[in-house]
Amino acid sequence: MALDKPYKDIPGTIIFDAEQARKGYHLNQFCMSLMKPENRERYLADRRAYLDEWPLNDAQKQGVLDLDLNACMREGGNIYFLAKIGATHGLSFQQMAGSMTGLSEAAYRDMMVGGGRRPEGVRLKDQDGWTPPEVGQPAQALRPDAPARYTSAVFTSHVPAIGSAMDFGKTEEPYWKKVFSGYEWSRQWMSQNTPDVIILVYNDHATAFDSSIIPTFVLGTGAYYPVADEGYGPRPVPDVEGFPELAAHIAQSVIMDDFDLTLVNEMVVDHGLTVPLSLLFGDVEAWPCRVIPLAVNVVQYPVPSGRRCYELGKAIRRALDKWDGEPLDVQIWGTGGMSHQLQGPRAGLINAEWDNAYLDLLIADPVGLTAWPHLDYVDEAGSEGIELVDWLIARGAMDDQFGGGSPEVRHRFYHVPASNTAVGHLVLSNPSD
Ligand code: DHB
Ligand code: FE
Repeated sequence: MALDKPYKDIPGTIIFDAEQARKGYHLNQFCMSLMKPENRERYLADRRAYLDEWPLNDAQKQGVLDLDLNACMREGGNIYFLAKIGATHGLSFQQMAGSMTGLSEAAYRDMMVGGGRRPEGVRLKDQDGWTPPEVGQPAQALRPDAPARYTSAVFTSHVPAIGSAMDFGKTEEPYWKKVFSGYEWSRQWMSQNTPDVIILVYNDHATAFDSSIIPTFVLGTGAYYPVADEGYGPRPVPDVEGFPELAAHIAQSVIMDDFDLTLVNEMVVDHGLTVPLSLLFGDVEAWPCRVIPLAVNVVQYPVPSGRRCYELGKAIRRALDKWDGEPLDVQIWGTGGMSHQLQGPRAGLINAEWDNAYLDLLIADPVGLTAWPHLDYVDEAGSEGIELVDWLIARGAMDDQFGGGSPEVRHRFYHVPASNTAVGHLVLSNPSD
């Protein structure tokens, strides 16, 4: 079930999508480097030498050397990026655009002055055999035997002190033993049920994203994510291997499903992502599977609602359902929470009744849970309890939300405290697993 890309057939046009972006990643980043005067100077002084500093393929390098923008476009370049090359050579946008048409500069200018290129004959709809695309509704049922199987969901708090307890060998201390006892079953189960890839939903804690940019939903489409230094030095845990092909597929499907994501190829990952990995996999030399990070903004209001997160989960499952690549065992993890407040005179707030009601509804009635407003999370579970919206993404993607059977509750754990936080942990499996 290939993704719908009707724009690929528009005559004389290359649409820059995630696939092209991946192909042209270094070419476009090379173009961006030309925004600095000192780089433009070095490039113009010895173009070949400057290009050789970048991991470009031969066709990309030759395209730049020839100022052949069509060739650069075919190799994944995007015109807004490529324009930095033209600008460096003193070319106007009209000269750049004209250079791709086969017309002389004068003929192109005259065409524009004469009203521009007429659309008749150069549209998709003017091509032989064209039929208008069907406007479908988002799928509400799952494809049987889809190669990417969402087997289980894992939900857990991601308190930084849990990571420190592991990193500094304190797991046997009575305070921490009580926390880690809740993960013994899961670690054992995980060793038998290691997925190929985890879509790991978490919230960045002013680590990869600061006040200069506040993206609501960030999907990691990169190949590799270094462990962040959050101020204490990086945790001594492995860096994270991504899954660019699957992430680009998910991005394409989810955005075409009217869900706007921010796509990030390079970012560091903080405790929100690494502590859950440590909890479930223990101390390892390398994480045993690939990870697609999905970061939700809960730092600066407005943050997405539980309903929006649930709907994003559904869109992600529709994307998995359309994957036609290698067979994959996929888990989706929801992390953060449960109740905690890290700020102000109300710091230390814990609401065990509310947390357990949340767990009950997450298991049995996630749609009912989506009716809970933001105010409830913050008022009842503390200002940082809002992290729990992350969990609804993993839950919205499960089989029963597409007419399948209810998930099996494999494991449930609740404990107060770890640092300032109530620790909640659930493992739910789809019945197909
Ligand atoms: C704590 C919990 C968190 O989820 C977090 O992001 C930072 C700190 C805590 O309990 O100390
Ligand atoms: Fe947190």
